[in-house]
Amino acid sequence: MIPRLQLIPDSASSISHEVNLFFGLMVILCSAVATGIAIFLIYSAVRYRRRDPNEMGSQRRNYIPAEVTWIALPFLFFMGMFAWGAKLYFEIERPPDNTVNMYVVGRQWMWKFQHPEGQREINTLHIPVGRPVKLIMTSEDVIHSFFVPAFRTKQDVVPGRYETTWFEAIQPGKYHLFCAEYCGTKHSGMIGWIYAMNPDDYQRWLTEGAPEGSLASQGEKFFHQFGCSNCHHFDNAGRCPNLLNLYNHPVQIGGGETVLADDGYIRESILDPNAKIVYGYQPNIMPNFTGQISEEQLVALISYIKALSPSPGTQQPSSSGTTPKNYGVQKGIAGPGATSISGSHLEQR
Ligand code: CUA
Repeated sequence: MIPRLQLIPDSASSISHEVNLFFGLMVILCSAVATGIAIFLIYSAVRYRRRDPNEMGSQRRNYIPAEVTWIALPFLFFMGMFAWGAKLYFEIERPPDNTVNMYVVGRQWMWKFQHPEGQREINTLHIPVGRPVKLIMTSEDVIHSFFVPAFRTKQDVVPGRYETTWFEAIQPGKYHLFCAEYCGTKHSGMIGWIYAMNPDDYQRWLTEGAPEGSLASQGEKFFHQFGCSNCHHFDNAGRCPNLLNLYNHPVQIGGGETVLADDGYIRESILDPNAKIVYGYQPNIMPNFTGQISEEQLVALISYIKALSPSPGTQQPSSSGTTPKNYGVQKGIAGPGATSISGSHLEQR
């Protein structure tokens, strides 16, 4: 069987049609300009060729209106394309506020996905149709590139930092996922599928089992296992900063600077705590976790810290002890009270 020759991949995301249009117009405009120049070049070479060995070049002045036209028109056309391209770029780069966040870890040679509800997948990712999905991605080894042609999504995944991208699938289906950066002998095998599902099917899929609990509750276990809870109390009485309501809030650090406590900041603060010490706290109290913790454990811990910052309207935690009760009412997210409910409280030392 000869596979279908496909010049343009499926269009299955909210931006793919505009990207198609932009790309198509770019091709037409560039071909038109290139063809025009080629035709004029050939015409001039024939029309103004040297007819006699003794012929001298003409001293004729430039024709100003023609020069203005061929400078101004292409300039306007291409600046227009630039403006449109910039608008499209910002749309692609800036995720909307109401995203479903998934964590992606690339490694030689597979894609690992973690849902906030706790599901883990390898080389397959299930997503709901009609909801923007944000991917927070990192690599365990070398640079990979997350490429879903049908979504017009391509983002390099770099070790040691988080890269984000987002898309919104607009029709259910199964779409190819590639690694688009040569990353070793089995680079071509670092492929998978994205399953875009109707919201109902997606909900059903989600309930079909997350044996380890939500990502945040896994993170809570690590929070106790790694001894974080010994110093990070929820009442400002610990030796280390209170992590309640930290996520995505500004933090004042030594030197008067203010940073946003996003995924990248929390990651850095776990791996290299002395990099940015919160104002009023001492350095060298928290151990360095570089090499002690896997990327998956990191994203679980970050999810837990994120769950400690409930969105407005949800129940606020009490601030009287290290493990406030009755917290974590949001579906799929466990707060500090969750382990005591499940009876697996792991605080040690
Ligand atoms: Cu990973 Cu190519």
